[in-house]
Amino acid sequence: MQTEEIRLRPARPEDQIIIRRLVCQARLNPFDLHWSRFQVIEAGEQVVGVGQIRHHGDGTRELASLVVDPAWRGRGLGSILVRALMAQEPGPLYLVCRRELEGFYQRFGFQRISGQEMPPRFRWIDRMARLFGRSWIVMRWVP
Ligand SMILES: CC(C)(COP(=O)(O)OP(=O)(O)OC[C@H]1O[C@@H](n2cnc3c(N)ncnc32)[C@H](O)[C@@H]1OP(=O)(O)O)[C@@H](O)C(=O)NCCC(=O)NCCS
Repeated sequence: MQTEEIRLRPARPEDQIIIRRLVCQARLNPFDLHWSRFQVIEAGEQVVGVGQIRHHGDGTRELASLVVDPAWRGRGLGSILVRALMAQEPGPLYLVCRRELEGFYQRFGFQRISGQEMPPRFRWIDRMARLFGRSWIVMRWVP
């Protein structure tokens, strides 16, 4: 059982490598990972969780790149990151996730939306996911 102190903080430039590593290991979208948009969780000296808000050119905001190191999952760190990222945005916030995570994000007020409710960018992602047989869904949080 780890006893390191857990701390949430905005990312710093030196976190870029671990952000990329965690996101790639989790096989999430490896693009658009600039450290300046991330919040991270440290356990002792080690970054064990990351997540960001992407600001898209069409004005939409996306909660993305949420990853907790496998050794640290199931202890509430992912929830801390989601709440922190939501707190820094006025909303609405969108996200794209695998279907099995719908319940996890519902806890924070995100709701799955249909194609008609999606901004064009997310409708396109949704179409591509269907085309490639992926079970991804789009969710939205409106404060
Ligand atoms: C999703 C993730 C960030 C959650 O982090 P975490 O620190 O374990 O989250 P918490 O401890 O706050 O919450 C755990 C809850 O997440 C849910 N959960 C996590 N992964 C899940 C999965 N693959 N399927 C279903 N539920 C899952 C569980 O319901 C668990 O519920 P419990 O609290 O009743 O046990 C983490 O599992 C992860 O890094 N996954 C790989 C990357 C990923 O899929 N990220 C999401 C991209 S949209």
